[in-house]
Amino acid sequence: MPVDVRIVEVGPRDGLQNEKTDIGTANKIALIDRLSKTGLRSIEATAFVSPKWVPQMADAAEVMAGIARAPGVSYPVLVPNEAGYERARAAGAEEVAVFTAASEAFNLKNTNAGIDESLRRFAPVLARAKADGVKVRGYVSTVLGCPYQGEVPLTEVVRVARALHEMGCYEISLGDTIGVGTPGKARAMLKAVAGEVPMAALAIHFHDTWGQALANALACLEEGVAVVDSAVSGAGGCPYAKGASGNVASEDVVYMLHGLGIRTGIDLDLLADTGRWLAALLGRDTGSKAGKALGAR
Ligand code: HMG
Ligand code: MG
Repeated sequence: MPVDVRIVEVGPRDGLQNEKTDIGTANKIALIDRLSKTGLRSIEATAFVSPKWVPQMADAAEVMAGIARAPGVSYPVLVPNEAGYERARAAGAEEVAVFTAASEAFNLKNTNAGIDESLRRFAPVLARAKADGVKVRGYVSTVLGCPYQGEVPLTEVVRVARALHEMGCYEISLGDTIGVGTPGKARAMLKAVAGEVPMAALAIHFHDTWGQALANALACLEEGVAVVDSAVSGAGGCPYAKGASGNVASEDVVYMLHGLGIRTGIDLDLLADTGRWLAALLGRDTGSKAGKALGAR
């Protein structure tokens, strides 16, 4: 088990990209500013994707312009291609994330490109980022199952993760996009990838559709992964993975980690307050059990 875990808070991006309720740009900025005060070191702020494909992220530049960047906190943004990279840089982004999948069928739906075509699109992004001193994270989606093709071969997960790492992504986030994985499968997947990419360059990104995300995360922590993606209040999902629910709730992950004696640097009370505040804006109860329990005190 790691001694320290870095949480990558993806709520403002993954959490909000699939929400029908538009909380508005000012509230998105307020969300990120609140999260910046919790001790988080990485907050994925928004996505410079096509607004025709994902209208919820159309205000990406306004969000980046409005947030108060806290020292020591990085604010990565999603970019699907060079056009996205240019928009992100014009908006002042200093870290970006490229994304592809281990499933050809999913990647075609999500980005209108096959896996290898998407990797080709990333090459100029990686080259420009290197020249600009911009850090690039890489996502592999559908690592434990695909909404269109079902089973995803582990060999593909490993191949795509290794390709992103070789291209220069400093960290590869392994996404169970539809939350179908179970702990044994999650552990085996991570071990297979860690055979080709150093564990220190890996992160896990689990959605909680089947209620397995926390258990899957624990299995992977036992293998030594030290970066966990999660979303405050468990908000979100992927517009191209129908029925998939949000990421594992950040509050639940932090509560578990602290209970295990693992440091995160995060103030759980502040995080849970933010989760309940966001849930109220979205017109529902928080999707975090820890957040609910803390709120009932
Ligand atoms: P396309 O339609 O094939 O793009 O979309 P194109 O290159 O043919 O361009 C078509 C139009 O889009 C053009 O405009 C371009 O300028 C414009 P027009 O001439 O028609 O006016 N365009 C852009 N505009 C703004 N920003 C851009 C951009 N690029 C092109 N970056 C594309 C291809 C990749 C752009 C599109 O499919 C797309 O934006 N997809 C994003 C889908 C998405 O955001 N999905 C959710 C995020 S991934 C996820 O949630 C999974 C993750 O959480 C991990 C996990 O859980 O597994 C990361
Ligand atoms: Mg996701």
